[in-house]
Amino acid sequence: MVCLGNICRSPLADGILRSKVSEKKLPWMVDSAGTAAYHIGNPPDHRMIQTAKDKGIDISGLRARRFTSEDFLAFDRIYVMDQSNYKNVLSMANSNAHRQKVSLLLDHLYPNKQLEVPDPYYGNQSDFDAVFTLVNEATEALISDLTNDK
Ligand code: 4NP
Repeated sequence: MVCLGNICRSPLADGILRSKVSEKKLPWMVDSAGTAAYHIGNPPDHRMIQTAKDKGIDISGLRARRFTSEDFLAFDRIYVMDQSNYKNVLSMANSNAHRQKVSLLLDHLYPNKQLEVPDPYYGNQSDFDAVFTLVNEATEALISDLTNDK
């Protein structure tokens, strides 16, 4: 799961997906990263920690890291939150196989619409709640698509 800072959207997506993967006992490795370096080593934004906690998901232990080209080797699928993340991640890929691993997270929920998970960083609580709802539904759709469990 990749966003810009790795302190709001992608740690939430990481935490929600991890929780579903654990519940469904899927043999998947889940992680998150940011394309920017501003917040490396920091915990998620306190507003996102609280938003997740209110829904029973603990993301307080995550620490921001930057996306690296090695992530193309370590992961089969790389989900980005918006078009800017998409461009930045693709610019680090050096093969078609790696480029094909990258897609917008919301493609699972709204195929072919190129919709983005909006950045809540400068927003209010309702923006954080909206991100939770979107990411929760998108990760559910992702699991359903990848496991053919429809
Ligand atoms: P994120 O949100 O990409 O969802 O983690 C942001 C976090 C920090 C900044 C921007 C977006 N920032 O400008 O510091």
